[in-house]
Amino acid sequence: MAIKVTWLGHAALALDVNGTPVLVDPFLSNNPLAAARPSDVQARAILLTHGHGDHVGDTIAIAKRTGALVIANNEIANWVARQGVQTIHGMNPDAYYDFGFARVALTIAFHSSSLPDGAYGGQPNGILLHAPGGEKIYIAGDTGLFSDMKLIGEQGIDLAVLPIGGNYTMGPDEALRAVQFIQPTAVLPVHYNTFPVIQVDVAGWARRVHTETTSKVIILDPGGSHTL
Ligand code: NI
Ligand code: MN
Repeated sequence: MAIKVTWLGHAALALDVNGTPVLVDPFLSNNPLAAARPSDVQARAILLTHGHGDHVGDTIAIAKRTGALVIANNEIANWVARQGVQTIHGMNPDAYYDFGFARVALTIAFHSSSLPDGAYGGQPNGILLHAPGGEKIYIAGDTGLFSDMKLIGEQGIDLAVLPIGGNYTMGPDEALRAVQFIQPTAVLPVHYNTFPVIQVDVAGWARRVHTETTSKVIILDPGGSHTL
């Protein structure tokens, strides 16, 4: 049992969950840091945190090519269907559904959510993924700090994927507090350095996390992977 997490740049992830390819927020074609092309990625499922263009990204083209199941809140799932993708699964927060490759729940997030054409995207979300081997991953999505991250941490998180870039999401200070709330074994920072307004000294942030928490920071270059 192993889960390989590959950072595709910005908030886009490619997960290999015991052999099942799963994409998260596949923003690739307009992503200056993209480590893969939409035509090259594989997906059995695509998980979306919210409706913003830097997260929905290339979902429609990838889902049409691969037949991937698009998993998101109801508003986004229905929007995806209106774009011609019928393989959808709508959810709402704090309820696990067993997709076979993993149990998945949406969480709350403190952000906004509208789709690229202006359609209402429902409430923004994070994602909890519990793999059959027991691994637990929390992908916060775009969010500010919120104290219920402590409740999420109580589940025992092996890997937390947190935005650290600021301006649109938590910046380094808030993300450090988030690590203290969640207490994950490891933390993967994302949503930084893609654009000038979210430039961050990630090595400096990692030093702070290593000094002030017991969590290990995983710094990846776009295209880099971490296995848990
Ligand atoms: Ni956003
Ligand atoms: Mn974003």
